[in-house]
Amino acid sequence: MKVSVKVPASSANIGPGFDCLGMALPIYNTITIEETVLPGTGIEINVMSEEESIDDMVFDSIPRDENNLVYKAVEMLYNSIGQEPSELKINIQTGIPITRGLGSSSSIVVGGLLAANKLLGNPADETALLAIATEVEGHPDNVAPAILGGVVLATQEEDGTLSYCKLDWPEEWDITVCIPDFELSTEIARSILPKEVPMQDAIFNAKRLAMLVHALNVKDAKLMKVALKDKLHQPYREKLVPGMKEIMEAFKHEDGVLGCVLSGAGPSMLIISYKYDLDKVKSTVKDIWEAQNIKVDIRTLKVEEQGAVVF
Ligand code: HSE
Repeated sequence: MKVSVKVPASSANIGPGFDCLGMALPIYNTITIEETVLPGTGIEINVMSEEESIDDMVFDSIPRDENNLVYKAVEMLYNSIGQEPSELKINIQTGIPITRGLGSSSSIVVGGLLAANKLLGNPADETALLAIATEVEGHPDNVAPAILGGVVLATQEEDGTLSYCKLDWPEEWDITVCIPDFELSTEIARSILPKEVPMQDAIFNAKRLAMLVHALNVKDAKLMKVALKDKLHQPYREKLVPGMKEIMEAFKHEDGVLGCVLSGAGPSMLIISYKYDLDKVKSTVKDIWEAQNIKVDIRTLKVEEQGAVVF
């Protein structure tokens, strides 16, 4: 039996929602798991890229053995029903740029889990799958939109319980995804964060995340512009993303630009705008990054409302 899963990319944090808010985007990885009939062949992992520009070193650094995240996720699912995975061929077709803050690793975890779940006769429901994916990733903000689609707010309690809800994104708010041609590993981007933050910074984000949820509900662009700010991770990561500060500065006083945020752990950035010239968004970002010899792939995308599809 062979099962494939097409999983969307995701952009986590979206300003104040560090580690709990994310949106699915229409760029995809496809993960296929096939049960091989020959006993003793073990686990085989193949990675194929749709991207011509993918850096060979990054591509080669993706583990093809038990250290691959997809394997870890599949193993956890098998273990949860008292089984061990064996004789599986896992193919990963990547369309999502790797180490750019677009949820590539989460999509692989989700794809592996959903495929394995189907192979096992669907023992895990949506919440259980989300809990396993969150455990592998460490936070739910990419895996939740990858599974469910749309914009998702998700939290995990200390006992592992997950709570999540979907939020509506106003159709007329444009999302421009700017993907620079350098990598930033989530591990490095997390290692730079402090263990504790000042109370004022925690309050700053709490107020804005609450405001963001309301702004989405009532489609209030002015409130959204106030809400799309962060003091918990972006200020620390600025030094890892050349050009980030300049890009944020360039749009700060533009009324039609509601926010300019780091996508996940970066280095990609999202520019969220309303009735604003999208060519101007693109040329501003391009000029800043190209002045620093950084090429950039810029795409204006809609939120992908459909989550992972099993076929
Ligand atoms: N919330 C996570 C972070 C997303 O910003 O580190 C990246 O995995």
